[in-house]
Amino acid sequence: MEQSPKKASRREFLRRLGVIGSLVIAIGFFIERMIRFLLPKKKTKTYHKYLVAKEGEIPKGAAKEISLSGKPVFIVNLDSGYKVFSGVCTHLGCIVRWEEQNQRFYCPCHQGIFSKIGEVTGGPPPRPLDEFTVEMDKQLVFIKVEDK
Ligand code: FES
Repeated sequence: MEQSPKKASRREFLRRLGVIGSLVIAIGFFIERMIRFLLPKKKTKTYHKYLVAKEGEIPKGAAKEISLSGKPVFIVNLDSGYKVFSGVCTHLGCIVRWEEQNQRFYCPCHQGIFSKIGEVTGGPPPRPLDEFTVEMDKQLVFIKVEDK
């Protein structure tokens, strides 16, 4: 039995439509995979909270030194609130000390001086002391440390 030209033409049209549709889907899938491969994945930062002091534990103008992962950290109680700094000098990595009478941090290695808010006020350090983000919660002082 022979098909009419009109029926054959419709069948041919549907076949081509199926082939083209499949091709479009395959190409779209391939492009989507390529884009995922080429673009770097966004990493979400995660943090840990560490309890570093209790409210009232450190008198105004004083500092408390603790060790965090083997590195010194200073919690300073200022009129503006608590500030927490790394005790590692930004020059060559010596350990700074808090001088309460001068309200400053002092690095004995090359006489580096940092103010009570961690800014460089003397000596060779190229930048301020690293500062941690402080969070107060129910009379407790926490710092946020980014996970590496
Ligand atoms: Fe601190 Fe040089 S290491 S001033």
